[in-house]
Amino acid sequence: MTRHLITSAIPYINGIKHLGNLVGSQLPADLYARYQRGRGNEVLFLCATDEHGTPAELAAAKAGKPVAEYCAEMHEVQARIADGFRLSFDHFGRSSSTQNHRLTQHFAGVLADRGLIREVTETQVYSKADGRFLPDRYIEGTCPNCGYDSARGDQCDNCTKQLDPTDLIEPYSTISGSKDLEERETKHLYLCQSQMKDELERWIDTREGWPILTTSIAKKWLTDGDGLQDRGITRDLDWGIPVRRGDADWPGMEGKVFYVWFDAPIEYIASAQEWVDAGKGTDWERWWRTDKGADDVRYTQFMGKDNVPFHTLSFPATILGSKEPWKLVDYIKSFNYLNYDGGQFSTSRGRGVFMDQALEILPADYWRWWLLSHAPESSDSEFTWENFQQSVNKDLADVLGNFVSRITKFCRSKFGEAVPEGGEWGDREAALLADLERQVRAYEAHMEAMEVRKSAAALRAIWVAGNEYLQSAAPWSTFKQDPETAAAQVRMGLNLIRLYAVLSAPFIPDASATMLRAMGCEDAAWPGDVSTYLTELPAAHVFTVPEVLFAKITDDQREDWQERFAGTRD
Ligand code: 2FM
Ligand code: ZN
Repeated sequence: MTRHLITSAIPYINGIKHLGNLVGSQLPADLYARYQRGRGNEVLFLCATDEHGTPAELAAAKAGKPVAEYCAEMHEVQARIADGFRLSFDHFGRSSSTQNHRLTQHFAGVLADRGLIREVTETQVYSKADGRFLPDRYIEGTCPNCGYDSARGDQCDNCTKQLDPTDLIEPYSTISGSKDLEERETKHLYLCQSQMKDELERWIDTREGWPILTTSIAKKWLTDGDGLQDRGITRDLDWGIPVRRGDADWPGMEGKVFYVWFDAPIEYIASAQEWVDAGKGTDWERWWRTDKGADDVRYTQFMGKDNVPFHTLSFPATILGSKEPWKLVDYIKSFNYLNYDGGQFSTSRGRGVFMDQALEILPADYWRWWLLSHAPESSDSEFTWENFQQSVNKDLADVLGNFVSRITKFCRSKFGEAVPEGGEWGDREAALLADLERQVRAYEAHMEAMEVRKSAAALRAIWVAGNEYLQSAAPWSTFKQDPETAAAQVRMGLNLIRLYAVLSAPFIPDASATMLRAMGCEDAAWPGDVSTYLTELPAAHVFTVPEVLFAKITDDQREDWQERFAGTRD
């Protein structure tokens, strides 16, 4: 039995995530976690909300709430929606937890002890009206290059020139609109990543079989320009983890907090501590400390491509720099972007379908199936309502749903609601079994390799094989001359439903549970030898005809939703 530690990139607290966010990290991570559990392996699947940073503060201000209260509420909202999508986290933590406070301060302390943190005095823009330093993207003004009047402090969106806030003509705060800005000196901590370049490069070079998308991004950051840069890990904000050196004060750093990207990945570890403190687990160290057994753990991270530099370089720099025996990631599965109907999903513009809205119109399995079978793996992919309708209607309703309903209803009408006895399997069944044996093993191989689209295609092929069998065996015709053989065919069909339930559970857990329940089957063991497996529901075993597994999406519904989600969300 292998032990799998699986983490999904932790979603920002401000606002509900869209389907593009979901398919880039949490959903494929869930697929893998469910699959590994299904194979009988021990899994710890962790996620959390990423609660610090200016966007969280601003969202709270907009909602008219204290930021801690806003985060607590939004955490509950996100947890509920995650549940709605059947994301099977063992724990859904919070980066603002006391566990993460302690651990983040601990890491900063040991990194400082190892000489990997230096203090830097820099000049930053301060807004008197807002009473705070302004991050670059919250300063706008006129671009000195092209004259565009809403250029941001880091870049002009019109001419793409990279800018410093001090380059802007007539800069103002986008928070308050105030032009009363001044430059002030402030002191920050920098993590000396440049000192660790060789060690990081060696570590990345020894990662076997990492996806090209992952390593190419890491390599680019290691070698582009002047190579890996030291990184500011503190900010002048109120909300965040106070800068401390372990348990001790950090002179000169009073009133400052750690940068959100410093504490967010540490939450992966803190989430395991929260899991134990919440009474859901007993030992987090055997997952995270290599001196306490975590050497045997296989650790896989899931994330969108924009997160890759932080996970291949920054977080490993924290872990390696500490020289403490923490578990490092074994495999990083990263994703491209999902686009929405001819453009991009956009949280700020409210474009696309958001997770709560998706669940309002259809149950989780419909979305899970489409998103996973169209996961943006080798390139960006695109959600269109036509494609969604087609894939739900064909794959889920016509192929899988129809199979289940036909065979159970036919059996009920001719033999009653129990697996019929009698008859023998012949060449047709032998061919099917050989076919399925090969296909199930191929499906497993794709799932092990986290090839999400290929896994979906392999699963679908397994459903199709059953349909084709049913079509050619046609027990409804056989029954007229040879009810015994028809009984054997139906027995095969009913056993196939159980096989489908077990194999499909990582993709469509609700439908899978419905199928298993209908088959009166508590044993969801993963299939070994397929020929044996398909005899395990014996004659006389009682079942029920399940409710319709998947309803088709009508053209009216599609048009309706297309229109409803074309605009922006407030
Ligand atoms: O991009 C994001 O949504 C970030 N909140 C991901 C953080 S992942 C990590 F480091 F914890
Ligand atoms: Zn410009």
